[in-house]
Amino acid sequence: MNVEIAPSILAADFGVLREQVKLVEDAGAKIIHVDVMDGQFVPPLSMGPQVCEALRDMGLHLEVHLMVERPETLQVESFAKAGAGTIIIHAEATPAVDYALDLIRSHGCKAGLAVNPGTPLAIYEEVVPDLALCMTVNPGWGGQSFIPSSIEKVTRLRAIVGDGVVIEVDGGVDAKTAGFCVAAGATRLVAGSAIFGQDDPARAFNDILDAATSRH
Ligand code: DX5
Ligand code: ZN
Repeated sequence: MNVEIAPSILAADFGVLREQVKLVEDAGAKIIHVDVMDGQFVPPLSMGPQVCEALRDMGLHLEVHLMVERPETLQVESFAKAGAGTIIIHAEATPAVDYALDLIRSHGCKAGLAVNPGTPLAIYEEVVPDLALCMTVNPGWGGQSFIPSSIEKVTRLRAIVGDGVVIEVDGGVDAKTAGFCVAAGATRLVAGSAIFGQDDPARAFNDILDAATSRH
């Protein structure tokens, strides 16, 4: 599986959001990570489906990370209709994980399942998502430090899900941590502040891709 970098717009300048996204698109990005926070599952509020609507005509794959309680009640449908290509729910956010993943697929989207750093991987023995997201920080804020024990967790996750599932890491990913994540089995890396927090997001995107793939 090719390694993909998914820039998170949480760290972007929303006053010029489309220009920011264009910068990473021109650098080769195919996926944009959209962090949705509800003020309950995680303390902050972030963005709603209008942000996907504002980006959907750019033709990039919009990957929506729902850090919200009970996403199956409304948000899955709202973001699918707003142009999401992948929707990721959290195992901790609903007792209806299997139902929610089916619901995502019924809208024609790829179904992702995330776990927080403190959550066991056992859920992946029961349900098989298209994408398994191993959080490498506690969700809620960008710019946090990568939790080192995540590497060993990603290794265990790959052993559980096999080769057919995208394994994604999210939080504290930069050119220093990217290579370790890929070596452990991650195939998609989210990066927010390490891309949009930099003076040259296109260059930062490529630096992380270089580090992830050891291409020079
Ligand atoms: C954290 C979000 C992340 C965040 C990552 O709650 O899910 O996607 O944007 O930000 P960085 O890359 O700055 O750690
Ligand atoms: Zn995220």
